[in-house]
Amino acid sequence: MSQKQLQSVLQQMPKAELHIHIEGSLEPELIFELAQRNGVALAYESVDSLRKAYAFDNLQSFLDIYYAGASVLLKEQDFYDMTMAYLQRAAADNVRHAEIFFDPQTHTARGVPFETVINGIWRACQDGPISASLIMCFLRHLSEADAIATLEEALPFRDKIIGVGLDSSEVGHPPEKFCRVFERCRQLGLHLVAHAGEEGPPEYIETALDLLNVERIDHGVRCLESPVLTERLAREQIALTVCPLSNIKLRVFDHMGQHNLLELLDAGLAATVNSDDPAYFGGYMNDNFLAAFDALPLGLSHAHRLARNSFNASFLEPEAKRAFIEELDAFFAKV
Ligand code: ADE
Ligand code: ZN
Repeated sequence: MSQKQLQSVLQQMPKAELHIHIEGSLEPELIFELAQRNGVALAYESVDSLRKAYAFDNLQSFLDIYYAGASVLLKEQDFYDMTMAYLQRAAADNVRHAEIFFDPQTHTARGVPFETVINGIWRACQDGPISASLIMCFLRHLSEADAIATLEEALPFRDKIIGVGLDSSEVGHPPEKFCRVFERCRQLGLHLVAHAGEEGPPEYIETALDLLNVERIDHGVRCLESPVLTERLAREQIALTVCPLSNIKLRVFDHMGQHNLLELLDAGLAATVNSDDPAYFGGYMNDNFLAAFDALPLGLSHAHRLARNSFNASFLEPEAKRAFIEELDAFFAKV
């Protein structure tokens, strides 16, 4: 199969996205449109100058700009428009199902009501072209008490959320800081995930599993530094939601040729490919697949496996999962 044919397979194959921060899908054009609509002053005078500021060298330098970008989101319709734009873009990449992170504390801290945030995002998911569900993330640089207060605010909207996650500045904010709130979420029947092993050490992956009882690890690429952990992740088939372009932009790896996606797969891990914050990191789902497959010796069987992992690791009901995997296998049977 030629490189061109492989690229076409990557673009056309059905897939699920399990690691997308909806605030990270806010394109500079929409930031400017919303700023104007809401009368919010921006520190940049044009779309181009904002885009030029996207020169990150670590997670924190990205987060500073990402939280500033989110400041234009004030009304329910703003959250709707942002989410609908993402869902349409994902559909064009043949994403069939997305599990979308949102960061309520980024908005409630600015005085935007919780219900404004969730109602806008939720309504877009109902109207959008693909299957979608919501995972509420706690910001780990804030206190556990703040996370608990956020969970309380979310309780009236329990049926609109399938799970909770943990994001923001990783180093210095280990998973164990959030033991109690994750235990309450588990008792509520919510699915549990956490960012771990992006910039933080492999121990954070272990404590996310053992102390927070998470079902998937977001990023997790530093697991390979611990052979014992790698072996466990393979044995228990804990999915990793890997984000190749993000890892390069935030200098987790120097360049794509050094990304460890193939090593993760070769170690028998349930790795998936995702976009993280596509408006900031230079691409949506297919851009991530194309960049990784262009730089690494990955082929057709890896593509099939990554897409299959994405449906398997999703929180879809077994029947929906089976239907998507049947569609995927039928697609590959014809390739
Ligand atoms: N919030 C948005 N993107 C993130 C990432 N890659 N890591 C941690 N927190 C985030
Ligand atoms: Zn992330």
